[in-house]
Amino acid sequence: DKGNHRHFMHKEIHEQPEVISHTLGNYIDFTNGKAKALELPWDFAKIDRLAISACGTAYLAGLIGKYWFERLARLPVDIDIASEFRYREMPLSKNSAALFVSQSGETADTLASLRYCRKEGVPIGVVVNVRESTMAREADVILPTLAGPEIGVASTKAFTCQLSVMAALAVRAGVARGHISPDEEQKLVKQLAEAPRLASQVVKLEEQIEKVSRDLAHHRDVLYLGRDTNFPLALEGALKLKELSYIHAEGYAAGELKHGPIALIDENMPVVVIAPYDRIFEKTVSNMQEVAARGGKIILITDKKGAEKSTVNTIDTIVLPDVPEIIAPILYALPVQMLAYFTAVFMGTDVDQPRNLAKSVTVE
Ligand code: M6R
Repeated sequence: DKGNHRHFMHKEIHEQPEVISHTLGNYIDFTNGKAKALELPWDFAKIDRLAISACGTAYLAGLIGKYWFERLARLPVDIDIASEFRYREMPLSKNSAALFVSQSGETADTLASLRYCRKEGVPIGVVVNVRESTMAREADVILPTLAGPEIGVASTKAFTCQLSVMAALAVRAGVARGHISPDEEQKLVKQLAEAPRLASQVVKLEEQIEKVSRDLAHHRDVLYLGRDTNFPLALEGALKLKELSYIHAEGYAAGELKHGPIALIDENMPVVVIAPYDRIFEKTVSNMQEVAARGGKIILITDKKGAEKSTVNTIDTIVLPDVPEIIAPILYALPVQMLAYFTAVFMGTDVDQPRNLAKSVTVE
């Protein structure tokens, strides 16, 4: 039931504050300010590598997870697209653990990767939304996302719930590995707990984002740029726009701009830049300058400070509330989803059921 919403996707975007809150509650003890000690088939203090694999948007959640695990827990992560992982025959040490991410729990390539790790004798966890799925059955531990059924083919709420699990798990790993002190844990948990409230504020930017989308719908190509955890979000933005509106889009790490994609920039090229004001903001500003100098149309997604400090002319600036760094990817995912959603609505495509796509890809 879509309720008052025009599409399931719209409904699912709006459900995010609530389902992020449910999901976090499963991994975080808010009262005591601690990441819950989960029963895992591995000991975060003893493993030396975590192999993450998944497909599509779930893969991008894993890619953001890599930044978190490495930064908060100093745990090296190998992240792979499952269709590559399964044939790559990656050597896995006996001190490795494997994590798979999937909304449906049925994606053929992800399942095959899981079975490869099973054969290699590596402990297996799945971040999964459908608890009765094949992956959930075959894993050693289920790390559920509590997003509820996701009907729209484009993944939205499952993605931000996957991110919520991954962030909480990275904090847990950081504590277990001695890189996060009890005080820091309290602080991080408090910041995680702010995600639902901030998400409901971000969803309210919808009217502005709808206007920006009206313009975007007239273009043939769109480029998305970001650094650090905003790089996977740039990839996610491009994926969402392609699958929903059929506009050609590409996501790049902003620092890669001058290694090729800059050749595409002219006055017809919109460039969506995802850049909250953080420690590398200035670096992204210089990439924006390179775009602006070639007449590219910049749509900047940032916060108040970022809007003030960016010295570059943009055609639109979407200003989010200030958010703690650890939850920024969860919140910046929302404007990216809304931009793709409204552009598709303007294009008149079938938003919930885009052409050529299936909700669950059970064949390779
Ligand atoms: O069910 P899964 O999470 O394993 O599905 C993975 C991808 O097929 C999925 O995320 C796909 O990329 C979405 N259509 C993206 O919106």
